[in-house]
Amino acid sequence: MTSQYDAMLDQMVADYSLVTNGYAGSAPANPYPMFEEKRAQCPVMHGDLLQQNKIPSMADYMMTGRPVVTLYRYNDIHSVLMNPDDWLSYIVGDGFGAAVDNMLLTAMDGEEHSKYRKTLQKPFMRSQIRKLMDTLIRPVVVHEFVNQLKPRGKADLLREFALPFPIRAMYAYFGFPHDGDLLGNLASWAIKVVAAPQTDPEIAKITIPQSMVAGQSMYETLLPIVRGYRERGEMRNDILGYMMQAEHDGEAFSDEEIANFIRMLLLAAGETTTRSFANMMVQLLEAPEVLEEIRQDRSLVPKAVTETMRRDPTAGAVARIAARDMEIGGMTVPKGTAVLCSIASANRDPEVYEDPDRLWLKRPMRPLLSFGFGPHMCMGMHMALTEMEVALEEIIALPNLRFDPGYPRPEIRGLNMRGPDALHVLWD
Ligand code: HEM
Repeated sequence: MTSQYDAMLDQMVADYSLVTNGYAGSAPANPYPMFEEKRAQCPVMHGDLLQQNKIPSMADYMMTGRPVVTLYRYNDIHSVLMNPDDWLSYIVGDGFGAAVDNMLLTAMDGEEHSKYRKTLQKPFMRSQIRKLMDTLIRPVVVHEFVNQLKPRGKADLLREFALPFPIRAMYAYFGFPHDGDLLGNLASWAIKVVAAPQTDPEIAKITIPQSMVAGQSMYETLLPIVRGYRERGEMRNDILGYMMQAEHDGEAFSDEEIANFIRMLLLAAGETTTRSFANMMVQLLEAPEVLEEIRQDRSLVPKAVTETMRRDPTAGAVARIAARDMEIGGMTVPKGTAVLCSIASANRDPEVYEDPDRLWLKRPMRPLLSFGFGPHMCMGMHMALTEMEVALEEIIALPNLRFDPGYPRPEIRGLNMRGPDALHVLWD
């Protein structure tokens, strides 16, 4: 392994920690007892749970002081996410939209959203992604990572696997050249864009201009890649190839538009998979009997992915704003009020999930909220699920995989972008 590669991993860990700390604020590492209390006492709560814990909140990223209500129950959150005409998404772009010329699918509403979504989602459909499972994703996971780790008997799976592998797989599917510096730079800029909103105005004075520079650097890096691809006349079966042939409102996309879309996708595609994989491994290593169940019956792998994502999701909350006076959970929510939907709380709502704290692979399935729900449900969901399934299969094939007792037990923390700080493991 080159020292350049090590330096890139160090940078990724540093960026990752910055995000974890930002989204941990003053909240307890284990927020689930607090959610239980909130569901019982104030399931529709005046105030913003994230701001109360000194965490930037997508319900009011720019701290304008708009009224915010936090929702804790599954059914209330499900109904908000299923009703995009009454509950709008534009506020999600407040904090960092400017850094990416406001090209954010997640912050679009109405027809603009549905049209773009229809065009952009084709290469992310389940049928497309499943074709990549053994042609792209498994070769990356096995040849570039697991085979290198195997003889060593120990690793920090966060630094050496969970951080780089999803980016590597995703970038290969974009159609980017295989270049470590490119990968490291884009990943780091993407985090700087997302890290723009801060609760401390003094820190925001630094992070907001920094996000503008990062957004511009991403664009300036992506545009020549797109142009080069077009000039070579490549039409490979990857995202760049798809976008060059796609039509939106009867017109082909320009290179500039494609660079803009790819930048938007990069913001969403990086760390979310890293964190979900790490949270899954922490939960499974804490429950060796469940891990053994999966080893004995590999058909449980997809269940292990979704059940661990339910029990401890990385995307702990999403936000919307009321387009008109609304009623939710028996309470009136006036027009212009934002709702912060605590997905992490909804995922342990006993009205929907029996024995919700238990890691139970064979539990009756309910629609999973960890990728959001409704028309804005994560467009990269099948990519993320497939990556996590392959990664789990390959990592649990390491014999007698266990926590390394030489390090503190990893702790998943944060109210959003939840994840552990490291994942030190041993195998035989
Ligand atoms: C396990 C990993 C992931 C998690 C937990 C996750 C989570 C989410 C969530 C919760 C939303 C909904 C936001 C909202 O409703 O306000 C979302 C939207 C989105 N995600 Fe992901 N995501 C993951 C991976 C990815 C990947 C790999 C991509 C790749 C391109 C991606 C692209 C997107 C896009 C484009 C949207 C916006 C969709 C829309 O508004 O129509 N995500 N994601």
